[in-house]
Amino acid sequence: MKATGAATATPAVGIGANDASAEKRSIAGVIDEMTLEQKVGQMTQVAIDDLGAGFCPGTAFNDHDDVETVGELFTELNVGSILSGGSTGPTFDGTEFVTGLNRLQEHALENTDPAVPFVWGCDALHGNTLLDGCTSFPQRLNMGATRDVELVETAATHTGNEIAAMGGHWIFGPTVDVLRDMRWGRYFEGHSEDPMLVGELGKARARGFQRTGRVAATVKHFAGYGTPNTGRDRTPVRTSMRDLRTRQLPAYERALEQAKTVMVNSGAVNGKPAHASRWLLTQVLRERYEFDGVVLTDWDDFERMLTNHQYLPDTEEGWRLAVKQGLEAGIDMHMCGGETPPTDFIETTVDLVESGELPEDRIDESVRRILELKRDLGLFDQPYAPEDEIDDLVGGARDVSEQLAKESLVLLENENAVLPLEGTENVLLTGPGIEAGTRNRFLMQHGGWTLGWQGIENGDLTEDGPRPRQTTIAGALSDRLGDQFMHVPTEFEAAPFTSINENFDNGFFDVTDEQKAAIVDAAHTADAVVIVLGEGPHNEGFGDRDKMRFPEAQRKLVELIDEETDDDVSLVGVVLAGSPRGTEETFDRLDAVLFAGQPGSDTGIAVVDTLFGDYNPSGRLPFTWEANVGHVPLFYDDYPPRQSVDAEEAMVQYEFGHGLSYTDWEYSELSVSHDSVCDPATSPTVTARVTVENTGELAGEHVIDVHNTEFYGSVLQPVRRLMGFERVELRPGETTTVEIELDLSTLEVVPGDVPGNRAKVVEAGEYELSVGDETTMLTIENAASVTDSEPMPGRYDIDNDGTEDFEDAMELYRRIKQRGGAGK
Ligand code: BGC
Repeated sequence: MKATGAATATPAVGIGANDASAEKRSIAGVIDEMTLEQKVGQMTQVAIDDLGAGFCPGTAFNDHDDVETVGELFTELNVGSILSGGSTGPTFDGTEFVTGLNRLQEHALENTDPAVPFVWGCDALHGNTLLDGCTSFPQRLNMGATRDVELVETAATHTGNEIAAMGGHWIFGPTVDVLRDMRWGRYFEGHSEDPMLVGELGKARARGFQRTGRVAATVKHFAGYGTPNTGRDRTPVRTSMRDLRTRQLPAYERALEQAKTVMVNSGAVNGKPAHASRWLLTQVLRERYEFDGVVLTDWDDFERMLTNHQYLPDTEEGWRLAVKQGLEAGIDMHMCGGETPPTDFIETTVDLVESGELPEDRIDESVRRILELKRDLGLFDQPYAPEDEIDDLVGGARDVSEQLAKESLVLLENENAVLPLEGTENVLLTGPGIEAGTRNRFLMQHGGWTLGWQGIENGDLTEDGPRPRQTTIAGALSDRLGDQFMHVPTEFEAAPFTSINENFDNGFFDVTDEQKAAIVDAAHTADAVVIVLGEGPHNEGFGDRDKMRFPEAQRKLVELIDEETDDDVSLVGVVLAGSPRGTEETFDRLDAVLFAGQPGSDTGIAVVDTLFGDYNPSGRLPFTWEANVGHVPLFYDDYPPRQSVDAEEAMVQYEFGHGLSYTDWEYSELSVSHDSVCDPATSPTVTARVTVENTGELAGEHVIDVHNTEFYGSVLQPVRRLMGFERVELRPGETTTVEIELDLSTLEVVPGDVPGNRAKVVEAGEYELSVGDETTMLTIENAASVTDSEPMPGRYDIDNDGTEDFEDAMELYRRIKQRGGAGK
């Protein structure tokens, strides 16, 4: 595709028929000028996934019958937004992307009146993983293991800059769904099971994405999407009102401080599809959190109210009700994916307004938010992106990506300090997922949303790409060891689109007889065997699984090597997976286990530097690793007892925060800046001070977690709560004293009886704070709310009309009076 020259053309397109900038004409004025169809067009986002031939306005658009070409989406339907879902666009080339989007924008602007620029959105969720040669940053679960908010933000800034430079405007991230169930196919997306950690990382990532000023971030999937009942994607959320308000919503609320847009949860919360919940989308999001940005549905989610939730009949009338309820609930824009032709949404909405069932004001409110977003992104002044920025950015931020990858590796086991290896050993590397030479083995290190929805679409790779920029474990080990390196890869085939029905291992794994013989041969001459284990790339429902054990072929592989080698051969497992994958049955046979997650582009260098001690592991598990799938879901901040008390030890394999180092760390002198806080509402933070010493023999980085570990209040308290964390780097023998800000809102609970509808408070009393075995006490003198002093939103909606107003107060008064309660 050739450059159009659009970037150098006069940019003064602006709102209106090529004649004025946003400053000259108010958004309200433009809305007045628009027809109802044009307004609803702005509220429509269309997936253009199947565009074989780029963004050319004349490209045939066959997804729906509504229009013949992509250009007509704008000229015929006035759509306000397009997206390339699943981390794939019409091209993998950055320059083609930016010139194509510019050309399409030019077409849209020159052929519409009022001329309103479109916004293009995508899932750049661990780097801008839509382009050939991209840097694939570690996945979100890895980011959670680093606890390195600053570095995570730097990676997000690079991603935002890259999306802007390729002509894009909108990133559908960060995902801030709190994790609890490893069976869920999107577990790798969620950062952590701790709401504060998720929220802080989400906030930093939103800030990073948006730093350029030309890109909007999305907090998704509002709210509770991360705890699907049964672990199946898009099933109802497993929560209670108390849990939702204290441990799920706060993660979103933190990230909302930065993000300009929100995407809604595809599931249902407490029996109500989130897309139809006025409580969630208006009373909580708009009224309580005062969020005035754009709220977007997820993919075809009005349709899903019929097909997935069976909430409405799968008929024309059912569809009409879904649109009506969604818009009444507070949605601004509908994402038309594969199932929903844009005209279905546009015509239904127009009809709802014309028939008087939906006030036009509701439409105007959404259009205002959408136009304000476009204005804030600078699109009315400069609708085109410069075409010379992208080349320098693709594949960049290598140092950030490598450091993040290293910090994200979690050392689970290291018996007899077999790691780090010395470098003089003969090392056999085996297992799947380790090198670039084979058709799709390397996919295991990246995971979903990498050059394709499921992690390179279908796993069907062409010889010449596209590929992320990458180092592999095999490549890096071979570079390091030369002649001492032996390698016997085993069979692996990615399994996207089949695992939901037939492959819960997220991949097909095998070890042929020939490979077994070669492995045994090589193992006999090895001093150490590195065995890569884990699962293939996956995404959404296709990644849902019912297993925690490693796939059978991998378990047998470890058994074989264990039986064929002497005790002095070190067996090291490296787990590449987007979830806690692996159980004692396998770990017991290994001397060391490194949970690598999905570290992305720099997997090879990060893993190999760690195996040889050039990097000292510092990652901490951002989740609880149950002993087996039957114990799922256990999470560290649940109410006690998490399961039957006596069985607890056997139920958890590795606790939240677990992570070993090659050196030893000792804490002392834990104290807190104020022993007592009079009013948490006015003093919402305190500072913990703790001295930490590297008492071992290797330099290293170390994450210090501060928890509340004991408190007796009026309702059950979580077993542990993370209140703050900090990362330090120390040489052997070095000591430092760190100050860690503790956020008292992490202690908020909903007091009162079962309904859980009172205002959240930090209750008065004595709180034990802990860092490792060090403890100190913090007294809260008076109960107070830190984040929200009001009771549950909607509590006073006595007449059930979705608002809390004077009528409700009167009705309440009448009822109390009838019961004889007034005046007593
Ligand atoms: C996912 C979203 C994503 C959207 C667009 C949906 O299937 O649930 O997280 O942003 O697709 O690709």
